[in-house]
Amino acid sequence: VASESFLRSLPKAELHLHIEGSLEPELMFELAERNNIELPYANVAEVKKAYDFHNLQSFLDIYYRCADVLRTEQDFYDLTWAYLLHCQSDGIVHTEPFFDPQTHTQRGIEMGVVVNGIARALKDGEEKLDISSKLILCFLRHLSEDDAIECLEQAKPHLEHIAAVGLDSSELGHPPEKFERVFKMAKDLGLKAVAHAGEEGPPEYIVQALDLLHVDRIDHGVRCSEDDELMQRLVKSQMPLTVCPLSNVRLKVYEHMSEHNILKLLDAGLNVTVNSDDPSFFGGYLLENFTSLAEHLNMNEAQAVKLAHNSINSSFLSDEEKQTLL
Ligand code: ADE
Ligand code: ZN
Repeated sequence: VASESFLRSLPKAELHLHIEGSLEPELMFELAERNNIELPYANVAEVKKAYDFHNLQSFLDIYYRCADVLRTEQDFYDLTWAYLLHCQSDGIVHTEPFFDPQTHTQRGIEMGVVVNGIARALKDGEEKLDISSKLILCFLRHLSEDDAIECLEQAKPHLEHIAAVGLDSSELGHPPEKFERVFKMAKDLGLKAVAHAGEEGPPEYIVQALDLLHVDRIDHGVRCSEDDELMQRLVKSQMPLTVCPLSNVRLKVYEHMSEHNILKLLDAGLNVTVNSDDPSFFGGYLLENFTSLAEHLNMNEAQAVKLAHNSINSSFLSDEEKQTLL
């Protein structure tokens, strides 16, 4: 079984991390005070007690409420910088965070405030911590495709900071086909594409993300194991899956980590990676996701090395850049 020090020392990329989901309760209270906002919680202990989820939606309701403390460019900088310090202690050498602009623009925060704050921290991460990065703009799938198109339009002046688009929020009832046009527009702008699919939604949503959105990676994707034909397709194409073990257990996709299918997918030849999703809400950053697999699934060193290599190889870095990290 792989040890914590071995897992920390492996060079890793994180490919599925919602920057708003890295907001720790302590920083949330600090920002609430700085911005004169009343929180629905009295203290950190009360916040942590509220993080008891029974499915994706019960988490999202709280996650969007917490994001309300983020108001200024400096707030987004501080949020991102705090995450990068966790990357440093976990042995992450490259990260591709998501952000949800519509969560902020809907409340009157301008796209530029959000992007510039995050991008400035990512630049400092490269220069001061030697952690490279690519930023991914996610559309909220519970909103309309027209809203997503408007969001893409607002992002156009900031494309130098954005590498890809993604699709997140409430999956069930909001299939990838709803966003076919806006993904085509994004690809025409030269952006890469990813989409959450097969987290709570059926394998059919994974097929749609591949065939209709032409994604470069699938986020989560764990429900692919219910469809043999899809499994074979994923092995053959080596399409990356960004799996988030602690998230899946906290949101009850699996009752316990010992039931998680990630190592079965890995051993079946799929290109799976380990990621933390929303670490502040799900009780662990990337290293804790790895150690949990060692503890509950007896992950060995060879499996851990493969998962870490997959993460770097599945990033949006150039082949040359990947070589320097492997
Ligand atoms: N937004 C933040 N985390 C998410 C997840 N795991 N699934 C869908 N939307 C999200
Ligand atoms: Zn996610």
